Formats: sequence, structure tokens, C-alpha cells
Amino acid sequence: MGSKAFLPFFSFTLFLLLLPLLFQAVLAHSKHGNPSPFEFLQHLQGCHKGDKVKDIHKLKKYLENFGYLSYDQNKTHANDDDFDEFLESAIKTYQLNYHLKATGKLDAKTVSKMMSPRCAVPDIINGTTGMRSGKKSHSKSVHSVSHYTFFPGEPKWPASKFRLTYAFLPGTRADAISPVARAFQTWAANTHFRFRRTRDYVNADIVISFESFDHGDGSPFDGPDGTLAHAFAPTDGRFHYDADENWSVNVTPGAYHLETVALHEIGHLLGLHHSSVEGAIMYPSIMAGASKGLHADDIQGIKALYN
Ligand SMILES: *[C@@H]1O[C@H](CO)[C@@H](O)[C@H](O)[C@H]1NC(C)=O
Ligand SMILES: *[C@@H]1O[C@H](CO)[C@@H](O)[C@H](O)[C@H]1NC(C)=O
Ligand SMILES: *[C@@H]1O[C@H](CO)[C@@H](O)[C@H](O)[C@H]1NC(C)=O
Ligand SMILES: [Zn+2]
Ligand SMILES: [Zn+2]
Repeated sequence: MGSKAFLPFFSFTLFLLLLPLLFQAVLAHSKHGNPSPFEFLQHLQGCHKGDKVKDIHKLKKYLENFGYLSYDQNKTHANDDDFDEFLESAIKTYQLNYHLKATGKLDAKTVSKMMSPRCAVPDIINGTTGMRSGKKSHSKSVHSVSHYTFFPGEPKWPASKFRLTYAFLPGTRADAISPVARAFQTWAANTHFRFRRTRDYVNADIVISFESFDHGDGSPFDGPDGTLAHAFAPTDGRFHYDADENWSVNVTPGAYHLETVALHEIGHLLGLHHSSVEGAIMYPSIMAGASKGLHADDIQGIKALYN
């Protein structure tokens, strides 16, 4: 065999040899290629006070991001892997908010709940829990401690400002426009608000865009899965989708439903914070392939804020 013939033959053989490896890599990528940013929690299952386990600092960061933990000046404790009493107490609060047994341990149910994809807005802002408001006056029901909540200080749109305009930033994917419009219609049908789309994104009351990782508002997104979107309290008007999610117009397995997430984020834009009622649109998490509408809890919440 001459060397001229050998080279292509060799290359082809190499290609054949590498093919299964290549195939495996592609398969691995579609299955595990983009592990959820919350994946680390899986390996911490069973941890409790007194433990020192690699990646506990990530759990602390997670709980800080969603408002459950603040080490303030105590930065060394924020970054170490010690399961201390502050972490235990933060986990108990998380468990109460999500109707789990308040063990303070990272048990299987807590891990599973914490790994759920969710809204990036913290459940607790400045020590005010957004999920167990205790405003019993809104309802005589014994379950009333666990329901809708507002942001601290109860920011809302002024009474005269019920006609709101919304705009998409230039470059927004075209398939998001109808789902967002339908979400606004749903809120309009259940409130005194009226929404109109405008192309004037400079003066619009509400501005919607798709953003990736750090996008300049102090609340970076985290790539596929993990946090999905966030929106600001009245009267800021900013609503950001995480551009790196697999979004869908129709309810589709493996993808996040644009309209359902818009319903949740518009709730924030109007002044609702998170609810501990699992069926409520203001519940913080939503699974891929799932959809939701407004719940009685959401409608009671918005009525209580504006009436
Ligand atoms: C730092 O945290 C430790 C517990 O981990 C606590 O004993 C100490 O008082 C804290 N220091 C400050 C300044 O908060
Ligand atoms: C939280 O508290 C700080 C300081 O007290 C204040 O500047 C900030 O505006 C508060 N944030 C919210 C969302 O209320
Ligand atoms: C994205 O969603 C589609 C369905 O819309 C699904 O077929 C696909 O597997 C998803 N991709 C990923 C990377 O999850
Ligand atoms: Zn939210
Ligand atoms: Zn943002």
C-alpha cells in the first residue's frame, strides 16, 4: 500500500473509530450537556447541622439569592462549607414557605423542591417573607396565613394609572408576542387594568425583553433551567425572560410555556409577590411542559391590593 493511499485510508479508519465516541458525546450533551444550575443540590441530600460537605457554600448562595439567608459582614461563613445554625434556620423557613416538614435538614423532599425551575425574584425581600404574609384580615379561612403577598411597602400603580402600555425591546423573538399579549388579556379580564402594546419602548410603562446571564440589573440569569424569568415591583415595569431557556408557545414537554411565565411576571409588575398556594400563578416554581392560569388566590390578591 503506497503512502498516498494510506493517508485517506488512515483518516477514514480514524473517523470510524471516533464515530461512537462522537455519538456518545452528542447523546451525553442532549441528556446531561446542560445540567441545571440547581443540580449540585442532589449531592447534598441528607446534609444537616454540623456537617462539612463540599458545595454547602453553593447551598448558602442559593438561599441568599432567594432571600432566606444573609451573612451580612460574616463573609467567611458565607463562603465556607460549614452547615451552621444560620443555614439550618434558613432551610426551616424555606420548608415552612413550601409546606414541607420544618426539619432544618436537606431531606429528599426539600432537595426536590429546591431543584425545581423557578422565578428569580427572591421569596423574601428585606426580611419580609413573600410567602406567608399572615394577613389574616383578608380572609376568615384558617388557611389564610398561606396565600398571596405583596412586596415590602406594598408598591402599586396609582389609581389613575390603570391604562398601561407595554413594549418589546427591539430584537425580541417574534413568537413571544402573542403569548405575552394573551397573558395581559387574562389579567385585564380579572382587574381594572387595560393594556395596550406600543412600539415606543422608551416611554412604555412595561418593557419586555429576553436577557442572558449578567444583563446589567444586578440579577444575572443562570443559563438553561434554574431561574427562568424575573420582573420588578411597581412602577418599574421591567420584565425579563431568561433567553437561554427552551421556550415554547404551546404546552410542550421539555419546554417552558411563554404565556404561563408571562402571567406570573405580570403579577409582579402589578404588585403581587410570591404565594405559597401551589396552584396559584404567583407560586415561585413551574416545571417544563406545564401550564397554569390565574387562581382564586391570585385574583383575591390583586383585588386586595387595589381595592
Ligand atoms: C459570624 O458567624 C458566627 C457563627 O457562624 C457567629 O458566632 C458570629 O457571631 C458571627 N459574627 C458576626 C460579626 O456576625
Ligand atoms: C431594603 O432595605 C434597604 C435598606 O433598608 C433599602 O434601601 C431598600 O430599598 C429595601 N428594598 C426593598 C425592596 O424594600
Ligand atoms: C426543547 O423543547 C422541545 C419541544 O419544544 C423538545 O423537543 C426538546 O427536546 C427541548 N430541548 C432541550 C434541550 O431540552
Ligand atoms: Zn416570581
Ligand atoms: Zn433582569
